[in-house]
Amino acid sequence: MRRILLTGAAGGIGSMLRENLLREGEVLRLCDIAPMTAHDGDEVVMGDLADADFAMDVCRDVDAIVHMAGQAKEGPWEKLVGPNLIATTNLWEAARVNGVERVVFGSSNHVVGMYPVGLELDPSDITRPDSRYGATKVFAEAVASLYADKYGIKSFLVRIGTFAEKPENIRALSTWISPRDLAAIVRLGLDADYHCETVFGVSRNTRAWCDNSRAFALGYDPQDNAEDYLAQVDPNAGPQGPVASSLQGGGSAAKEFSGDIDLLRRRVRP
Ligand SMILES: NC(=O)c1ccc[n+]([C@@H]2O[C@H](COP(=O)([O-])OP(=O)(O)OC[C@H]3O[C@@H](n4cnc5c(N)ncnc54)[C@H](O)[C@@H]3O)[C@@H](O)[C@H]2O)c1
Repeated sequence: MRRILLTGAAGGIGSMLRENLLREGEVLRLCDIAPMTAHDGDEVVMGDLADADFAMDVCRDVDAIVHMAGQAKEGPWEKLVGPNLIATTNLWEAARVNGVERVVFGSSNHVVGMYPVGLELDPSDITRPDSRYGATKVFAEAVASLYADKYGIKSFLVRIGTFAEKPENIRALSTWISPRDLAAIVRLGLDADYHCETVFGVSRNTRAWCDNSRAFALGYDPQDNAEDYLAQVDPNAGPQGPVASSLQGGGSAAKEFSGDIDLLRRRVRP
């Protein structure tokens, strides 16, 4: 029996994954700081991953981890440090001590959100986070890389775009990922052979700003394309203004912005 730990199981993505992830011969251990209801034989463990002892316990007898827990949006440093930095170090350390084989991590498009829109990025482009939140995801990607190289824990870093039933604004025509495509790329992380892999969690969007060929080579076969919803997208929805419309991070890049937008538009790569 293969045991998969799903962190952030009470959240939006976690709730979707707990319904769609499992294969025969596998059992889910659900973890969140928020309460959850158990069903279908799932194990449910409530607690704070920023507590190292809790993280160590919850990783016991686990084969693979899908790590989705965290503060999922921008906030002051003091709100991000516990769930996104301390919890991250606790989780990978607990994975090492408990002999976990692999970790699939919910990273974010906001690790590269200061690149101009339209530029096609690949995983080797250096990170340019658009927020404190994005910077914490860069840190987690670095921790994952360290634990892959030094301790042999496979790391699958999914830079999730905009997870929703359908794209709601112009930016999401590039960044959207449907629930079934996200479930599929996370599943790929549980099954494929890799060392430390960075992939883009977006559907097969005509306007995608990324080269996802590594994910495709590993077997990702997205079923949805945001363009199919074009007629339903309100062009005035979502963040507006020169910064939000020029940078891949959209509203997140624009928030608190006091830099030089002309410079960022011109300097395509640093
Ligand atoms: N939703 C998106 O479009 C999107 C895009 C990019 C990245 N992501 C990332 O994917 C992951 C899941 O996103 P989501 O939209 O489901 O967010 P969410 O806020 O709905 O879920 C996150 C869950 O993590 C739990 N959590 C927070 N701190 C915790 C801690 N210290 N210990 C244990 N559990 C804790 C929360 O209670 C919550 O249930 C997040 O890491 C987020 O940053 C999401």
